[in-house]
Amino acid sequence: MTALHFDNESQLLAFGQQFAQTLRHYLEAGQEHSLTIYLNGELGAGKTTLTRSIVQAFGHTGNVKSPTYTLVEEYAIPPFGIYHFDLYRLSDPEELEFMGIRDYFRPQTLCLLEWASRGQGMIPEADIVVEIEYAGEGRDLTLHPQSRVGENLLANFNAK
Ligand SMILES: Nc1ncnc2c1ncn2[C@@H]1O[C@H](COP(=O)(O)OP(=O)(O)O)[C@@H](O)[C@H]1O
Ligand SMILES: [Mg+2]
Repeated sequence: MTALHFDNESQLLAFGQQFAQTLRHYLEAGQEHSLTIYLNGELGAGKTTLTRSIVQAFGHTGNVKSPTYTLVEEYAIPPFGIYHFDLYRLSDPEELEFMGIRDYFRPQTLCLLEWASRGQGMIPEADIVVEIEYAGEGRDLTLHPQSRVGENLLANFNAK
Protein backbone atom coordinates (compact mmCIF):
# COMPACT_ATOMS: atom_id res chain seq x y z
CA MET A 1 0.00 0.00 0.00
CA THR A 2 1.20 3.50 -0.80
CA ALA A 3 -0.08 6.40 1.31
CA LEU A 4 0.09 10.01 0.13
CA HIS A 5 -1.21 13.32 1.37
CA PHE A 6 -2.06 16.37 -0.70
CA ASP A 7 -2.56 19.77 0.88
CA ASN A 8 -4.48 21.12 -2.08
CA GLU A 9 -5.94 20.34 -5.46
CA SER A 10 -2.88 21.28 -7.46
CA GLN A 11 -0.83 18.71 -5.55
CA LEU A 12 -3.39 16.07 -6.39
CA LEU A 13 -3.31 17.13 -10.05
CA ALA A 14 0.49 16.88 -10.06
CA PHE A 15 0.25 13.37 -8.64
CA GLY A 16 -2.20 12.44 -11.42
CA GLN A 17 0.27 13.61 -14.05
CA GLN A 18 3.11 11.57 -12.57
CA PHE A 19 0.96 8.53 -12.09
CA ALA A 20 -0.21 8.77 -15.70
CA GLN A 21 3.40 8.42 -16.87
CA THR A 22 3.68 5.08 -15.12
CA LEU A 23 0.29 3.97 -16.45
CA ARG A 24 1.35 4.90 -19.97
CA HIS A 25 4.55 2.95 -19.55
CA TYR A 26 2.55 -0.15 -18.67
CA LEU A 27 0.12 0.27 -21.54
CA GLU A 28 3.03 0.69 -23.96
CA ALA A 29 4.61 -2.48 -22.63
CA GLY A 30 1.60 -4.27 -24.11
CA GLN A 31 -0.37 -5.93 -21.35
CA GLU A 32 -2.65 -8.84 -22.11
CA HIS A 33 -5.50 -7.18 -20.28
CA SER A 34 -6.85 -3.71 -19.79
CA LEU A 35 -5.42 -1.76 -16.91
CA THR A 36 -8.24 -1.37 -14.43
CA ILE A 37 -8.26 1.27 -11.72
CA TYR A 38 -11.05 1.70 -9.21
CA LEU A 39 -11.40 5.17 -7.70
CA ASN A 40 -13.13 5.04 -4.33
CA GLY A 41 -14.18 7.88 -2.08
CA GLU A 42 -17.14 10.01 -1.09
CA LEU A 43 -18.85 12.48 -3.38
CA GLY A 44 -16.53 15.41 -3.87
CA ALA A 45 -13.43 13.53 -2.73
CA GLY A 46 -11.71 14.15 -6.05
CA LYS A 47 -12.20 11.00 -8.14
CA THR A 48 -13.19 12.91 -11.26
CA THR A 49 -10.55 15.56 -10.63
CA LEU A 50 -7.86 12.87 -10.51
CA THR A 51 -9.23 11.23 -13.66
CA ARG A 52 -9.13 14.59 -15.45
CA SER A 53 -5.48 14.99 -14.56
CA ILE A 54 -4.63 11.50 -15.80
CA VAL A 55 -6.59 11.81 -19.05
CA GLN A 56 -5.03 15.19 -19.81
CA ALA A 57 -1.57 13.86 -19.06
CA PHE A 58 -2.18 11.31 -21.83
CA GLY A 59 -2.61 14.23 -24.19
CA HIS A 60 -6.34 14.88 -24.19
CA THR A 61 -6.84 18.62 -24.45
CA GLY A 62 -10.63 18.91 -24.20
CA ASN A 63 -13.05 18.63 -21.36
CA VAL A 64 -13.20 15.76 -18.94
CA LYS A 65 -16.63 15.75 -17.41
CA SER A 66 -18.22 13.26 -15.10
CA PRO A 67 -20.10 10.55 -17.03
CA THR A 68 -22.80 10.54 -14.40
CA TYR A 69 -25.68 9.98 -16.82
CA THR A 70 -23.88 8.28 -19.68
CA LEU A 71 -22.06 5.88 -17.30
CA VAL A 72 -18.96 5.93 -19.49
CA GLU A 73 -16.91 8.50 -21.37
CA GLU A 74 -14.39 7.47 -23.98
CA TYR A 75 -11.08 9.20 -24.75
CA ALA A 76 -9.38 7.89 -27.84
CA ILE A 77 -5.68 8.54 -27.53
CA PRO A 78 -4.20 6.24 -30.17
CA PRO A 79 -3.01 3.61 -29.69
CA PHE A 80 -4.73 3.71 -26.35
CA GLY A 81 -8.34 3.87 -25.29
CA ILE A 82 -9.17 5.44 -21.99
CA TYR A 83 -12.59 4.78 -20.48
CA HIS A 84 -13.88 6.71 -17.53
CA PHE A 85 -16.85 5.10 -15.82
CA ASP A 86 -19.08 6.55 -13.16
CA LEU A 87 -21.51 3.86 -12.02
CA TYR A 88 -23.13 5.99 -9.32
CA ARG A 89 -26.46 6.05 -11.12
CA LEU A 90 -26.40 2.46 -12.23
CA SER A 91 -29.70 1.03 -11.07
CA ASP A 92 -29.26 -2.51 -12.33
CA PRO A 93 -25.94 -4.23 -13.13
CA GLU A 94 -27.74 -5.75 -16.13
CA GLU A 95 -27.46 -2.35 -17.78
CA LEU A 96 -23.75 -3.04 -18.09
CA GLU A 97 -24.52 -6.12 -20.13
CA PHE A 98 -26.60 -4.02 -22.54
CA MET A 99 -23.82 -1.50 -23.02
CA GLY A 100 -21.39 -4.27 -23.92
CA ILE A 101 -19.25 -3.79 -20.84
CA ARG A 102 -16.73 -6.49 -21.78
CA ASP A 103 -15.67 -4.67 -24.94
CA TYR A 104 -14.14 -1.87 -22.90
CA PHE A 105 -11.79 -4.13 -21.00
CA ARG A 106 -9.31 -5.10 -23.68
CA PRO A 107 -5.53 -4.74 -24.11
CA GLN A 108 -4.19 -1.20 -24.40
CA THR A 109 -7.15 0.26 -22.63
CA LEU A 110 -7.10 2.07 -19.35
CA CYS A 111 -10.36 1.77 -17.44
CA LEU A 112 -10.91 4.20 -14.58
CA LEU A 113 -14.02 3.49 -12.54
CA GLU A 114 -15.87 5.58 -9.99
CA TRP A 115 -18.41 3.65 -7.91
CA ALA A 116 -17.20 0.33 -9.24
CA SER A 117 -18.94 -1.40 -6.34
CA ARG A 118 -22.29 -0.79 -8.09
CA GLY A 119 -21.19 -2.99 -10.96
CA GLN A 120 -19.86 -5.77 -8.81
CA GLY A 121 -19.87 -9.12 -10.56
CA MET A 122 -20.12 -7.48 -13.99
CA ILE A 123 -16.75 -5.79 -14.22
CA PRO A 124 -13.19 -7.09 -13.95
CA GLU A 125 -11.30 -6.93 -10.68
CA ALA A 126 -9.10 -3.87 -10.23
CA ASP A 127 -5.35 -3.87 -10.75
CA ILE A 128 -5.17 -0.94 -8.36
CA VAL A 129 -7.71 0.56 -6.00
CA VAL A 130 -7.25 4.27 -5.26
CA GLU A 131 -8.91 5.48 -2.07
CA ILE A 132 -9.35 9.23 -1.67
CA GLU A 133 -10.39 10.67 1.67
CA TYR A 134 -11.06 14.18 2.90
CA ALA A 135 -8.38 15.59 5.17
CA GLY A 136 -9.51 19.12 5.87
CA GLU A 137 -8.79 21.17 2.76
CA GLY A 138 -6.49 18.44 1.58
CA ARG A 139 -6.86 14.79 0.72
CA ASP A 140 -5.35 11.52 1.86
CA LEU A 141 -4.84 9.08 -0.96
CA THR A 142 -3.90 5.42 -0.72
CA LEU A 143 -2.99 3.09 -3.56
CA HIS A 144 -3.79 -0.59 -3.10
CA PRO A 145 -2.43 -3.10 -5.61
CA GLN A 146 -4.87 -5.92 -6.37
CA SER A 147 -3.03 -7.88 -9.04
CA ARG A 148 0.46 -8.82 -10.12
CA VAL A 149 0.42 -6.02 -12.67
CA GLY A 150 -0.79 -3.59 -10.03
CA GLU A 151 2.00 -4.58 -7.67
CA ASN A 152 4.62 -4.14 -10.36
CA LEU A 153 3.22 -0.86 -11.46
CA LEU A 154 3.18 0.58 -7.95
CA ALA A 155 6.68 -0.65 -7.19
CA ASN A 156 7.78 1.08 -10.36
CA PHE A 157 5.94 4.27 -9.46
CA ASN A 158 7.33 4.34 -5.93
CA ALA A 159 10.85 3.86 -7.20
CA LYS A 160 10.67 7.10 -9.16
N1 LIG B 1 -7.07 18.66 -2.41
C1 LIG B 1 -8.06 18.49 -3.29
N2 LIG B 1 -8.00 17.47 -4.16
C2 LIG B 1 -9.02 17.27 -5.06
N3 LIG B 1 -10.10 18.04 -5.17
C3 LIG B 1 -10.21 19.09 -4.33
C4 LIG B 1 -9.20 19.35 -3.37
N4 LIG B 1 -9.58 20.41 -2.66
C5 LIG B 1 -10.75 20.80 -3.17
N5 LIG B 1 -11.14 20.02 -4.20
C6 LIG B 1 -12.40 20.18 -4.94
O1 LIG B 1 -13.23 19.05 -4.63
C7 LIG B 1 -14.05 18.72 -5.73
C8 LIG B 1 -13.86 17.28 -6.12
O2 LIG B 1 -14.86 16.96 -7.03
P1 LIG B 1 -14.83 15.67 -7.93
O3 LIG B 1 -13.47 15.43 -8.45
O4 LIG B 1 -15.95 15.80 -8.90
O5 LIG B 1 -15.18 14.55 -6.83
P2 LIG B 1 -15.75 13.07 -7.02
O6 LIG B 1 -15.58 12.68 -8.44
O7 LIG B 1 -14.95 12.24 -6.05
O8 LIG B 1 -17.19 13.14 -6.60
C9 LIG B 1 -13.67 19.67 -6.87
O9 LIG B 1 -14.61 20.71 -6.89
C10 LIG B 1 -12.29 20.16 -6.47
O10 LIG B 1 -12.06 21.46 -6.97
MG1 LIG C 1 -16.98 11.97 -9.83
